[in-house]
Parts: sequence; structure tokens; C-alpha cells
Amino acid sequence: MCGIVGAVAQRNIVSVLIEGLRRLEYRGYDSCGVAVLADGEPRRARSVARVADLDDQVRDTKLGGVTGIAHTRWATHGAPVTDNAHPIFSRDTLAIVHNGIIENYETLREMLRGKGYEFVSQTDTEVIAHLIHSVYRGDLFAAVRETVQQLHGAYAIAVLHKDQPHTVVGARQGSPLVVGLGEGENFLASDALALAGSTDRFVFLEEGDVCELTLDGVRIVDRDGQPAQRDARQVAAYGGAVELGPYRHFMQKEIFEQPRAISDTIPQADAFDASLFGEGAPKVFEEIDSLLILACGTSYYSGLTAKYWLESIAKIPTQVEIASEYRYRDSVPNPKALVVVISQSGETADTLAALKHAQSLGHPHTLAVCNVGTSAMVRQTEFAFLTHAGREIGVASTKAFTTQLVALFVLAATLGKLRGHVDASQESNYIKQLRHLPAALNSVLALEPQIIAWSEEFSRKENALFLGRGLHYPIALEGALKLKEISYIHAEAYPAGELKHGPLALVTEAMPVVTVAPNDALLEKLKSNIQEVRARGGQLYVFADADTRIVNAEGLHVIRMPEHYGLLSPILHVVPLQLLAYHTACARGTDVDKPRNLAKSVTVE
Ligand code: F6R
Repeated sequence: MCGIVGAVAQRNIVSVLIEGLRRLEYRGYDSCGVAVLADGEPRRARSVARVADLDDQVRDTKLGGVTGIAHTRWATHGAPVTDNAHPIFSRDTLAIVHNGIIENYETLREMLRGKGYEFVSQTDTEVIAHLIHSVYRGDLFAAVRETVQQLHGAYAIAVLHKDQPHTVVGARQGSPLVVGLGEGENFLASDALALAGSTDRFVFLEEGDVCELTLDGVRIVDRDGQPAQRDARQVAAYGGAVELGPYRHFMQKEIFEQPRAISDTIPQADAFDASLFGEGAPKVFEEIDSLLILACGTSYYSGLTAKYWLESIAKIPTQVEIASEYRYRDSVPNPKALVVVISQSGETADTLAALKHAQSLGHPHTLAVCNVGTSAMVRQTEFAFLTHAGREIGVASTKAFTTQLVALFVLAATLGKLRGHVDASQESNYIKQLRHLPAALNSVLALEPQIIAWSEEFSRKENALFLGRGLHYPIALEGALKLKEISYIHAEAYPAGELKHGPLALVTEAMPVVTVAPNDALLEKLKSNIQEVRARGGQLYVFADADTRIVNAEGLHVIRMPEHYGLLSPILHVVPLQLLAYHTACARGTDVDKPRNLAKSVTVE
């Protein structure tokens, strides 16, 4: 993860770098720092608090300069302490910021120690700094090119050297880096968003590229050292501060934005048409015989939900895999499968690597379901369906998840229609149901006061079980993930029928058991599972559709959901689980939008 910003200009660039870091904090917030060339020397400020603290430091010390680099860190090698915060120096002559992981850093460190270099941090980044220093012969661009040949792993870097006062050199391999083109000034960043307000013209560097920014231009070479022609693109990245409005946290705001986000994501057309997924999709969708879905975390759970839809509506065999597992296992490629990657950010390293792995195995057809139109994933797939969740700031994904579900439902209905399993009346029913979803969601959001009442009790627990069945099992998984990541309560999810095969042993009166209870074909089975828990003194917290006839009783706490919403019910049932996690975390006083150890965009393995 980690966020990088760099700039070469004729004005003091520190405020641009600090503003860029503020916008990149979603990539990690363990520490941050900035370095500039001031009076021919690299000078830096670093903080193990947030960017606001770094800003105070640079104001207090009047740190300023026309050439600079900055970094916000998600710790990999070494604890989040000042010595490990970037920018990292080599012998007070050059400074570097780095995103990624250098796998051969131990070998390189020993080699550099042999040459007399001392290491003051535990980072793999310091190895790159000293390596560049060791090969520098008056040309930073050449030294960086020589250095990256020796690195194994993933990196995006930005480097400055005291002898080249108007130069920043960058390189990328496996981690994102974009060049921002200005008038008489140029920039580098992990994400175009960091530079909104400074420029709207960007060059997206490709794997293996090395670039040199000066006042009047940008030079780029590819991994073979050949001059590379990369097109500049106009990107209107919205960098304005996103307001909290009446909400306490961005997560709460984003939960309440779901009706709007979903309505923006639902296609306007009155029919499911494969061309919604891109030119050429109608033909390819006719030819495919299965789907392979690859994703991580919450996006993986939206893929798991989609499997039920794809197999039930479109009758198309669907396999869903955690991207970090798929990329390293031996699998049997099927060129007739459509590979679907799902990602909020479109930059998740494991999902990108899984996509490339699938392509290298000979999967020709790929589709991204993604919230960021300029992301690497969208650029690297044949087809794309963009969700319109808007910027998600809270680390815990909420509106991105429900909009992914909408996109995947549209995919299932489109494939179902193409394969003759969705007739005209079914199609118009699905469209009506989709269009009514925002209103249905509003009535679920109105349950917030009842959920707050439950959350007080939850905040005193250290463990929780989540149960669901069928289409709602992935929703139970997502509910457990939300609770653990922001409240730090240990939570696990099971398909309710699995309980008796082991986890029932955990059930005592101290164990809350959250149950997703839609009025679907599995309701009677689920009711039996509920009784199994009650018989053992477990405390059940059930989100039950109004017509399930599950009512409050001893050990059985019920919140009524609206009427059963058919196949789209998971989109409604996940919302109270998001609210339960959110209010429990608030009651425990955690940092809801920036939970410990996490980052919004996971761009390292
Ligand atoms: C959890 C969460 C993560 C992400 C995962 C994948 O709330 O947000 O589990 O879903 O890191 O991220 P994307 O969707 O950006 O690929």
C-alpha cells in the first residue's frame, strides 16, 4: 500500500505534497513524511501520527522547497516508528519514498553492508536508497535504472538527489504510479486523485517504466531502457474535501448513501443488454460456458453472492476464488470461461496479479466490475462494468459492496436472458425490483435506532457468530468481516447448517449469534438451526423478514426487516449488519474510518 507524491516546480511545493498525502491517507496511515531540497540539501519532516501532525511540523519548521517527495505509510518491514517513516535518506545526499515490498532486500542489505553502508531503519526501502547511492555517478535517472534491475518484488518509488536540484526520478513495477503534467512543473503520485487541483493531465506509467521529471518535461523509458511513448490522458479527478454533513463518520455517511449509489449504478435501459459491459460483449457472452470470479475481502463476498445468482438465473457454472490463492495454485484454464475481477479500487495487488495470471494461462475474456474507471484493473480487462458508488473513504467497504451486488445481478440477468432462461416478463420484474431497491433500502436504514440499542450490548462482547444460509451465507460472512475489522471483536460466519458440525461447541450465553433470516426456501431449515442455538443458551440476534413469524422470546431478539425481497434480498440484509458493526465500533470508541493495521487500497501482496 503506501501513498507517494513527488513534484518539481518553481514554487514552494510543500503544501501540494501535504495536500496530496491527505488524499492518499486511504493507502495507509501508520506514518507519513515529506522531503525537499532546501539550500542544496535534502531536508525532511516525519510523523508517526496523521498528516495533520506532519502539516503542523512543516509549518513550525518552515520547511520549504521547489523539489520534493512525500509518503504516507502502511508498515510492512519495521514498526511504525520515526526511523522507519519515509522519506528514507542515503548518506544525506538522496531521499526516496517507496510503495511495495522488495523480496531480495536481505541479500542486497548484506551486499551493501559489505560496501560500508549503515542501516538505521528496518525497512526494505533503505536498501533501495543505498543501492542508488552506490551506483550514482552524476546521473540519478541512470542510477535508478541500474538499481531497479537488481530489485525483486513490487515497487513504486520517487527519488531526489541533492546534486540535481530540479529532478525527481520515479519507477514502477507492480505498484501504481502516475505522472501529472503541469505548466513548467511536473508531478508524480500513486493515484491521480492526489494531484487534483494541480493538474488534470496524467500519464499512467506501465510496468517496468522509469521516468525523470524536470521543470520542462518528463522522460520515460520502458523496462528495456527504450524511450517509451505513453499517451497523456485528461482525468478530472475530484479532489475536493468530501464533507461529512450530519454524520459522525464517513462509514456512517457511506452506509446512508447506498440508495443513491445503487440508483446511480442501475443501468437506465429498460432491458438487460450485454453491450452494457462493453463493445464486443454480446458476442463473447454468447460464447462463454462458465465464469471464474477473482477478488479479495468484501469484493470476494460479492462474488460469492453472485455465484448463487449466476447459477440460479443464468444456469452458468461459476467458480469464485480468493485472488491471492488463485494466483499461486495450479489450475486448469478454460478459455471459454469469462474471468471476472471485482474490486472497489481496481488497484488491489492480489486481484491484479490473479487477473494477469489468468491471462497468462490463456483466458482470453476478462471483465472488471470496478468503482474506479481509470484503475489498472479497468485498463487491463477486455470489458468493464463501472459501479457508481462515488468515492468511498471509510476503510470498511459498504456502498462499494452493495453497488457491486447490483452490477453482478445485472450480469446474471443479462447472461440469463442471452441463454434463454429469463423471459420478457421475468426481465421486466427484475428491472422493476432493481428500480424499487433504493426505496426498500431507505426503509431498512430506518431501523438504525433499534440497531443502536443492540450495539450497546454487542460492544461488551469479545466474540460473535454470524449465521446465514444459501444466498445469505456470503452476507453473514460480510457481516462478520465488518464487525471484526472496525470493532476488533472476533467474529466468524457459518452457513447455519454447518453449526452442528463443530462451531455449536462455542455457543454459551456469552456468545451472540447474529442470524440473517429472509423468508426464502430455506426458512424452515434456518428456524431449526435457531432452535439448536436457543437450546444451548445462546443469545440470538435475528434480522428476520416481516413475514417469517420469528418473534421476540427469551434468548431470541428480533429486528423486523421489510417484506422478503426475492433474489435481491442480500442487498437489503447486509445493511443492518453494516449498521450493527458501525454502532458497536462507535460504542467501543475505535477509529471507525481508519481501523488499526488496515488501509483502504491494498496494493502490496
Ligand atoms: C473490507 C474491505 C476489504 C476490501 C479488499 C478488496 O471492508 O474493504 O476487504 O474489500 O481489500 O479491495 P478492493 O475491492 O479495492 O479490491
